[in-house]
Amino acid sequence: MSVSPEIILTADGSHTLFVPELDEHYHSVNGAIQESTHIFINIGLHQVQKETIRIFEVGFGTGLNAFLTLTDEYTKEKTIHYTAIEAYPLPLEIITKLNYAEQYPTSGQLLFQGLHKAEWDKVVKITPYFRLKKLTGDLTSFDYNLIEESVDIIYFDAFAPDKQPDMWTQDIFDRMYAITAPQGVLVTYCAKGSVRRMMQQAGYKVERLPGPPGKREMLRATK
Ligand SMILES: C[S@@+](CC[C@H](N)C(=O)[O-])C[C@H]1O[C@@H](n2cnc3c(N)ncnc32)[C@H](O)[C@@H]1O
Repeated sequence: MSVSPEIILTADGSHTLFVPELDEHYHSVNGAIQESTHIFINIGLHQVQKETIRIFEVGFGTGLNAFLTLTDEYTKEKTIHYTAIEAYPLPLEIITKLNYAEQYPTSGQLLFQGLHKAEWDKVVKITPYFRLKKLTGDLTSFDYNLIEESVDIIYFDAFAPDKQPDMWTQDIFDRMYAITAPQGVLVTYCAKGSVRRMMQQAGYKVERLPGPPGKREMLRATK
C-alpha cells in the first residue's frame, strides 16, 4: 500500500481510515469504536478468565484495539502482554489526528500516544501492567518463533478476504491455532463460511455470534 489513507468519520463519531487503493476501510463505517469494542473487547477479551493475558493482534493499524484493551475496566488489575504485527505502520501525522482518546482525560490521551510512540520490535512497558511489542512485518512471511509463549486471545483484524486473500488462508489459520493456548480464542469481524471452515479445519471450535451494528454475524474460535 503506497497511497496515504484518508480519515473518515463513522456513525458513532469515531474515526476510521479509508484506503483508496484497496477501496477498504480499517473499521466499520457504522461505528469504529462500537465495532472494535463489540468484537474484540466484549466478545473476545472478556471471554479470557486469567490474571495474565497474552494477546496477539493481526494488524496494529490505528492502535484502536490496543487502546480499548488498555483502558478497559476488565484489564485494570490484570497483566497484559500485547503483541501486534503490522506491515504498514501509519505515519504520526495521521495518528495525531485520530479522535479515539478525545473523550478521555489527559492521562488517556497520553496512553494513546504512548502506544504509538513505543519503539517497534521491542517490548515496551506502557503501564506497570501493560507490555506492548509491535512487530513490523508481513504476517504471510512471519517468523512465528517471535511469539515466545502461546497467546490467550488473537484479534484477527486483517482487511477483508476479498481484498487481501493471502491473509485468510488455511496455512495462516493453522499457524494461529498453533500459537493459541489451550482454551484460548480468536475473534474476527468476518463471518464468511469459507473462513469458518478454515478455522474448524485448523482445530478450533467456531461460534457464529451477533455482529456489531450493521453486521449480522462475527466469528469466535476457541481452542
Ligand atoms: C482492517 S485494518 C485494522 C487495523 C487495526 N486493527 C485498527 O484497528 O486500526 C488491517 C490492518 O492490517 C495491516 N496489514 C495489511 N497487510 C498486512 C500484512 N501482510 N501483515 C501484517 N499486517 C498487515 C494493515 O496495514 C492494517 O493496519
